[in-house]
Amino acid sequence: MTLKACVFDAYGTLFDVSAAAREASREASFPELAETWQSLAAIWRDKQLQYTWLRAVTGDHIDFWQVTQDGLDYALEASGLDKNAALRERLLQLYFNLSAYPEVPAMLATLRAEGLKTAILSNGSPDMLNGAVSSAGLSGQFDAVLSVQDVGIFKPAPQVYAMVEQTFGIARNEVLFVSSNGWDAGCASAFGFETLWVNRLGAPVDRLAATPQHTMKNLSGLPALLAQQNHA
Ligand code: LAC
Repeated sequence: MTLKACVFDAYGTLFDVSAAAREASREASFPELAETWQSLAAIWRDKQLQYTWLRAVTGDHIDFWQVTQDGLDYALEASGLDKNAALRERLLQLYFNLSAYPEVPAMLATLRAEGLKTAILSNGSPDMLNGAVSSAGLSGQFDAVLSVQDVGIFKPAPQVYAMVEQTFGIARNEVLFVSSNGWDAGCASAFGFETLWVNRLGAPVDRLAATPQHTMKNLSGLPALLAQQNHA
């Protein structure tokens, strides 16, 4: 089956979610982050994701920007940094304007030159996604930027993945779905997408109903993978 569209998760896949805490740690105003920024970023990300799964199960959907703030508030308190309002504000500002991983712009340009459709499919709210796409210099590189806001439930609810079929009018096995989140790649495989797991951190594979068909350390090999799949 020819792959016609390449659909990307946003946070951790295209956009570097650690960049907010890392960049703040280099600013003179926040010396307290020098030792703690990595653990703060990890707790923030873990709690943000846990809250999306719990809210999907309980049907208590809210905007991903609120979930991002809730995860940060937990992480700041767990790190003993919750009294620093300026730090909280700066981290949120940086999160809204994340940078892309270095290989992303050239990889996207190659896919588009090959005639593939490209899209983002993310928990992020439309405002957050537009902010990140623009701050990362990726405006004009996507045929669609799809937010779970339109279906009112977070990943990995199947309604989210189904948005791709509806948007492009193609079958699920014509889609390569790309995520750095092992659980997202696994659940997207179970949905019926071909999937690539970008295992940037060398993590073990998640034990779920299905596993990703492809794994890479970053996105630079993606155009070659697609060319191989489509000409096999
Ligand atoms: C997203 C999160 C899961 O962009 O990374 O949907």
